[in-house]
Amino acid sequence: MRKYQDIKFPPSGKSPTKAVVESMSKLNIAMEHPAPAPQVGTTVPVPEPMKVEEKKLEPKLTLEELAKRIKSGAYKKIVALTGAGISVNAGIPDFRSPGTGLYNQLEKLNLPFPEAVFTLEYFKENPEPFFQVAKEMFGKKYVPTKAHYFLRLLEQKGLLIRNYTQNIDNLEADAGMAADKLIQAHGTYASAHCVGCKMAVDGKAMVESIREGKPKYCEKCKSPCKPDIVFFGESLPDRFFDKVAEVKHDCDFLMIMGSTLQVMPFNMLPLMVGPEVPRLVINNELPELFAEDARNGDVYMAGDSDASITKLVALLGWNEELAKLMAERAELAKKYGVELKS
Ligand SMILES: NC(=O)c1ccc[n+]([C@@H]2O[C@H](COP(=O)([O-])OP(=O)(O)OC[C@H]3O[C@@H](n4cnc5c(N)ncnc54)[C@H](O)[C@@H]3O)[C@@H](O)[C@H]2O)c1
Ligand SMILES: [Zn+2]
Repeated sequence: MRKYQDIKFPPSGKSPTKAVVESMSKLNIAMEHPAPAPQVGTTVPVPEPMKVEEKKLEPKLTLEELAKRIKSGAYKKIVALTGAGISVNAGIPDFRSPGTGLYNQLEKLNLPFPEAVFTLEYFKENPEPFFQVAKEMFGKKYVPTKAHYFLRLLEQKGLLIRNYTQNIDNLEADAGMAADKLIQAHGTYASAHCVGCKMAVDGKAMVESIREGKPKYCEKCKSPCKPDIVFFGESLPDRFFDKVAEVKHDCDFLMIMGSTLQVMPFNMLPLMVGPEVPRLVINNELPELFAEDARNGDVYMAGDSDASITKLVALLGWNEELAKLMAERAELAKKYGVELKS
């Protein structure tokens, strides 16, 4: 079990806020705290030497074996955890990719620290940087990627119990995923509220402000209005906590795609499944968490998510079915006037 203190939480170096700690306790995961330091003058017992037991190691799971098992119907309760990486091929930058991630492009905004742009206290004082960043992220139309359609295919086959996404771009829904299958753990920008009097704001009006890159202020109390995305320090939506026990109790195969897994409490989800549950990681880089908590049932596909999905789908023999769904993508691109690169 990883220690609470080991988990990075932006803003770096600051301790998690009360809301996040509450979120963690709702997740019902035991957190290890270090033992208190012994007081001066007390005798510290010398630990007994540890007994060494000989244990045979299970052979490590391979991608081919995993695909064989999925194909044979061994897993019927798949949970997918997704992040910004799966929307990069749609044209939406992620946060942390060196060079291209949004955090690299924030210098011109003169922020006290990059994450300030998604911090409630800072937003209340100065909402402009957020709207400039939001314009860059969501100012135009995007179409879902192959990775999104693969998840839809899992749903269509009746194998997906839930897609927990950190993304706020709504591309899962655009790919046709049923609302019931999707948990937008960090909210969505399609609806909004005033941060002062909490009055609901028309979602379309908020989208318009984002397109213009200009803050929207409440007609009643003049405070800035914020899309219903979860800022650092805010609690996750109730629906996340209502469902999350299924990750621990029901999930028989966990897929993680396009995330550094640095944001709490979302990054606790991969730790909730038992050691018998295979965990497939599809990402440009191996998330730190997986390097620290490596298991025999982990399979890592390094590199581009859509290229990995192409490989996986070929192993599964699902090419035709995915192509059928991807035809919807071509239609959507035509409708939105978006040129498809892949
Ligand atoms: N599209 C979106 O909705 C969007 C975009 C940017 C940030 N966010 C926010 O980012 C926060 C969490 O961070 P995160 O972990 O989701 O993002 P992150 O930026 O921390 O990590 C993205 C990961 O995806 C990888 N990646 C980038 N392009 C890839 C590709 N084509 N194929 C495979 N992997 C690729 C990167 O190497 C990185 O490890 C969330 O709170 C989320 O709301 C969302
Ligand atoms: Zn108001």
